Amino acid sequence: MKVVEEEQQVVVMEGPWSPVDVIRDIVDEGSQEDPFYVMDLGEVVARFREWKELMPRVEPFYAVKCNDDKLMVSTLAALGAGFDCASKAEIQLVTSLGVGPDRIIFANPAKPASHIRYASAAGVTTMTFDSETELMKIKQYMPHAQLVVRIRCDAASAQCPLGIKFGCDPVAEAPRLLKIAAVIGLNVVGVSFHVGSGAQEMGVYARAIQYARTLFDTGDAAGHTMYLLDIGGGFPGNSGTSIREVSQVINAALEAQFPSRSVRVIAEPGRYFAAAAYTLAAMVHATRQLPAREGESAEEAHTMYFINDGVYGSFNCVLYDHQQVHAEPLEESSERPQQCSIWGPSCDALDCVLPAYSLPPQRTGNWLVFKDMGAYTIPVASPFNGFPTPKVRAVLDKHLWTMLEDLWPLTGAHFSFGRIPQTPPPSPDPDSDGASPSSPLSPAGPAPHHAVFVECALK
Ligand SMILES: Cc1ncc(COP(=O)(O)O)c(C=O)c1O
Repeated sequence: MKVVEEEQQVVVMEGPWSPVDVIRDIVDEGSQEDPFYVMDLGEVVARFREWKELMPRVEPFYAVKCNDDKLMVSTLAALGAGFDCASKAEIQLVTSLGVGPDRIIFANPAKPASHIRYASAAGVTTMTFDSETELMKIKQYMPHAQLVVRIRCDAASAQCPLGIKFGCDPVAEAPRLLKIAAVIGLNVVGVSFHVGSGAQEMGVYARAIQYARTLFDTGDAAGHTMYLLDIGGGFPGNSGTSIREVSQVINAALEAQFPSRSVRVIAEPGRYFAAAAYTLAAMVHATRQLPAREGESAEEAHTMYFINDGVYGSFNCVLYDHQQVHAEPLEESSERPQQCSIWGPSCDALDCVLPAYSLPPQRTGNWLVFKDMGAYTIPVASPFNGFPTPKVRAVLDKHLWTMLEDLWPLTGAHFSFGRIPQTPPPSPDPDSDGASPSSPLSPAGPAPHHAVFVECALK
């Protein structure tokens, strides 16, 4: 896991703008050559609001594994979200941002002992399990834990099915585990499930909630006090998707199976908050024209484009998260699209981002834009072959900045006005009046899109 150590900056945008406008501004400066992300924090805020409106009974506990960018996590923390942590390092990250242990679920059913000891010391007591051996380990290292049994209930189809690895059978295994926990003196307080990431079936949530209902009764009968239902992740996150439909299924199932408000309901959305907030820009640094094969016309010729981010970097999502990515040229072109393939920068032939694609002819130095790149990209990327992983350039609309100002750990002393900087300026001098001398103030008047640069110190 890579946690960004240095302070991150946010550009507050005024007037009409889009992430692609921001990319264009940065590229037009002329010195940008490495790939980079533009992260729209407003997307995270809008999704948090949508969640609260559509599923008011379900508290979102953001799945940190999806994208551990500190800005992402601290924004959700400021909004009041809880967190699903899978490891000691994720607990460390979240608690370092001031989140209390009661807002964390350690949702990894197979935990290293040292991580359980760390969670115990940090006061994180709610954790999942799905086996007898995990119960014994928890008995040894955290006998006071508040346990949640993870059951398996898979969507008919999902981008990343998880049931093959985690979740005990709700009928054949879970009742026995509840009884064993009671016999050895452990407290089971609830039931969790994950229907699969990028689930493509909605009815699965109703099925899983029904299983959970039965297990609440089994747990109560075994002597536990069951009060926590965790409906996991699986929600869509790309631009243009919505949780409206799935929220109706979930709300109806909760009303039918868990009408009592004494049952606390949480979820562990990852992709939902992260995917659309991040837009990636990568540059074409080499091209190779393949000779037309016999019988092929010139129009069928194929060009290979080499870009500076690949499957060992952000596009690991193509391999591990089974994502279908889409490349859009930054500059519009009137030329006809032609067959091409897009390759990452490493010397490995596996490093292919899009094997069969179609783009208007691109030249070295052109930029390609990839939307919906925030989920399961940043924490997995490596600098294999020495190619750097992209930096994140965060932006936020001024209206939201005003709203978040009081919630977020930002201070007024940390902002000044100017254009989007090509390279983030150094940390502000605590003795100065807030106007950083190194801020690239625009002598030529307002910048395009009236960008207001704000240096945000994330404490
Ligand atoms: C335990 C757990 N919770 C939540 C998530 C997040 O799922 P999603 O991104 O589909 O919301 C995952 C993803 O792997 C997970 O393993």
